[in-house]
Amino acid sequence: MYELYPYFTNDGSIGLFSPEADDIYHSTYGALTEAYEKFIIPAELDTYFENNSQIKVLDICYGIGYNSKSFLNFILEKNILKFEKNIKKNHILKYNIATIYTNKIFNRINKLFCIYKRYTDKIFNNKDIQNNISEIRGIINNNDTIYSNNILQDKLSINNKKYKIYLKVLDTDKNLFYLSPFFRQGNKNDKKYNKLNFNYEKITKLLNNEFNQKYQLDQNINLLIFKYIINNCPDIFEDSEILRILNSKKYKPFFDQKLCAYFKLLRNKRSKYTLPGSLYVFLHNIYYSHVSTSYKKALNGLKINNFIFEHIIADARQSILSDNNIYNFIFLDAFTPAKCPALWSLEFFKLLFEHLDVNNGMILTYSNSAAVRNAMINAGFFVGKIFNKELNKFTGTIATKNKTLIKHELSEFDLGLINSKAGIFYRDENLNQLNEQIIATHQKEVYESDKISSSKYIKQFKLTTEN
Ligand SMILES: C[S@@+](CC[C@H](N)C(=O)[O-])C[C@H]1O[C@@H](n2cnc3c(N)ncnc32)[C@H](O)[C@@H]1O
Repeated sequence: MYELYPYFTNDGSIGLFSPEADDIYHSTYGALTEAYEKFIIPAELDTYFENNSQIKVLDICYGIGYNSKSFLNFILEKNILKFEKNIKKNHILKYNIATIYTNKIFNRINKLFCIYKRYTDKIFNNKDIQNNISEIRGIINNNDTIYSNNILQDKLSINNKKYKIYLKVLDTDKNLFYLSPFFRQGNKNDKKYNKLNFNYEKITKLLNNEFNQKYQLDQNINLLIFKYIINNCPDIFEDSEILRILNSKKYKPFFDQKLCAYFKLLRNKRSKYTLPGSLYVFLHNIYYSHVSTSYKKALNGLKINNFIFEHIIADARQSILSDNNIYNFIFLDAFTPAKCPALWSLEFFKLLFEHLDVNNGMILTYSNSAAVRNAMINAGFFVGKIFNKELNKFTGTIATKNKTLIKHELSEFDLGLINSKAGIFYRDENLNQLNEQIIATHQKEVYESDKISSSKYIKQFKLTTEN
């Protein structure tokens, strides 16, 4: 049976633990913060968009999607800012572009959800129904402004830039992909749900750190991914694991209950066998004719930008082998190399080399491993470090074909470490070996190597720098 091990991280986003990999999916200081600080900020997307209006992003190891969601968040925010700037510059009728995306959908869902909940809790009587029907009519007639796509199109053409966004996400875990839009953003009080049912001392201690939410995801992003899934993967409606998990009491605090209710409504609508009560049908009709219409408009807002989202549930090596795209950004967020070497091998980086843009392409990863950096160098990349100004430390690695994109070069110490045993990279000649096989070959190579051990190298380096 598929189980999840979720917990609220220190920024309210949700982290997961994997017993199979014996590893965490996300940093305890914040899954969302980590996505921003290790992938989105170092990618310097603002600079990228100064010279480009098209972008192709590959998210390797999507998990529950924080890296992709943060990227989409950036795009939405960027659009909003850009349009506002243009509107001011051109003295055009002032309007809030955010309404195009959000369009009060959540207000409406919220209201419908409350009604739906009262209905399912069976606390309706006839009078209630009458009252609620007028409430429902009120929601329908609520005249929140919906701008037509044409207006948006006009605004976009002022700028003369049409953004084209392509985002492909890869993972082996279909369940996580399907569940990804349901995970909610928590607040500082939600840590009370962290009754971790796994023994992971380090996390438990770190999770006691102060709550600090620096970044916020637009709620429409989860809705966007949800819509993509229900449109492209209709098997989600019959997936017993997903239904069990979404209905399970123990996971309830981690999921957005409004989206779960919406999912239930959609599922019920598809079912041939349930005969829903008249109010239920009524709610459906309202949803379809109004809430989803406004949502469609929100989606169209993104479609104008030529937004394409794709997913592949398979081993990332195979997915990339059959991919013809050249990417501008690749987010590599696999479990640590010692657990998942298949996605850190020399051959894997050679494969990524073939799929990275020669001028502006960048692979970003949280890993600082000497073996990873060495594999990247041997695959032909220029390799540098990701520096986090706020934490005042290096928090990851960048690989690129364009040396000018490297802001923080590897130090003398890093290069020395790469030449020690720590720098011996993983090999996966035909890109099809099991992690266990790759680890065994690597261990043998390290054992037989006459290179200096990393601990000896570090000691020597300290001595020479002290003198
Ligand atoms: C550290 S987690 C990624 C977390 C993710 N970026 C997020 O925001 O939730 C690693 C992910 O790698 C996936 N994975 C492991 N081996 C893989 C492979 N060979 N190909 C594709 N995905 C893989 C796992 O299913 C897991 O979701």
